[in-house]
Amino acid sequence: MDFQLSEEQRAIRDLARDFARNEIAPIAAAIDESGEFPYATIKKMGELGLMGIEISEEYGGAGLDTLAYVLAIEEIAKVCASHAVIMSVNNSLYCYGINQFGTAEQKEKFLAPAAAGKKIGAFSLTEPQSGSDAGNMKTRAVLRGDTYVINGRKSWITSGPVADLIVLFAATQPELKHKGTACFIADTSLPGFARGKKEPKLGIRASATCECTYENYELPVSHRIGNAGDGFKIAMSVLDAGRIGIAAQALGIAEAAYEASVAYAKERSAFGSKIAEFQAIQWMIADMSTRIEASRLLIYNAALKKSAHEKFTREAAMAKLFASETAMWVTTKAIQVHGGAGYSKELPVERYFRDAKITEIYEGTSEIQRLVIARAALDAK
Ligand code: CAA
Repeated sequence: MDFQLSEEQRAIRDLARDFARNEIAPIAAAIDESGEFPYATIKKMGELGLMGIEISEEYGGAGLDTLAYVLAIEEIAKVCASHAVIMSVNNSLYCYGINQFGTAEQKEKFLAPAAAGKKIGAFSLTEPQSGSDAGNMKTRAVLRGDTYVINGRKSWITSGPVADLIVLFAATQPELKHKGTACFIADTSLPGFARGKKEPKLGIRASATCECTYENYELPVSHRIGNAGDGFKIAMSVLDAGRIGIAAQALGIAEAAYEASVAYAKERSAFGSKIAEFQAIQWMIADMSTRIEASRLLIYNAALKKSAHEKFTREAAMAKLFASETAMWVTTKAIQVHGGAGYSKELPVERYFRDAKITEIYEGTSEIQRLVIARAALDAK
């Protein structure tokens, strides 16, 4: 594997790093505390090309590859995981599917404004009774003439409270199960769409999450992406792409916790020496850095496969599984290295710990990633 970065990849990484340090770092702790959505910085990220990194310039994006996308998310997540997930959902879960499966007209209308950061995109698959079992959806879309009438409830919608446009999945022929699901682009300004209460979350608190309901909500056929039965496969392949973004978010969180631990270990003294001199601390630091490096290799590998247009379902699942569990492990150890100071809200380590947990849950739990990997290994269902 050759991870020598191109000039463009280095440039977007440096741009994301500088933006995160200069513009996000000063507000990260405050928005975690208040749960306020960071409109101003997200708008600036759109202007910088960070909201549609892999989308061509023709449709408002930066025209870069998946490794460039991963490098940028990693830098943003190192400073604020909330900004990173808003960015990841817009880039992967919203833009990627339309770019892959939409018509030129749909790309012009629905992709370009979100890729340019002028509109915020979200993704609506989960329902109250169906999280991991994504095929078990109750939302229905009934075709009347050339209009779909949609009824249903979607839950845990990242950016739901602020989204202008949402990739929405609904059953058109429920008796056909997966093969009877369609994918639509919902416009949140149309009648029949409503947002529920914001979820009070443990972490990623500045990213807004809510339930969204559709009541006799009408969409023209021109808002359907792909054929009527393509929805489930579109959802799965969009999630493959999304999992690389979440893995990169987890990597950024883990790196932040690791760097804080190294700095603290060199500065804190106990029993007459710096704690960095104790083997107990050294072993934690060694394991942290090894797991982070392994995560990075898995993520970059998945990104390169995707950019090469090879199947990357298994690699994305491995990257997300390993990087998210690494983020949880590293942030737990980071608090241990810091002792009581790590448990205090005066340092960011406890925020990294709270933010890490969701990476093991959304866009497919660790259990679902293991299922996807095992099915690939065993050629089984
Ligand atoms: N790409 C393309 N097609 C795929 C695919 C993939 N990665 N995975 C499966 N499919 C196809 C299968 O080939 C099959 O097609 P056929 O009917 O033609 O054979 C069809 O989809 C059904 O597949 P399965 O039989 O494997 O489906 P399943 O019911 O067993 O479910 C699953 C598989 C992997 C468990 C899937 O349901 C899944 O990924 N669940 C997790 C859902 C998830 O990640 N939700 C996250 C919500 S979004 C979110 O979290 C956003 C956020 O807030 C940030």
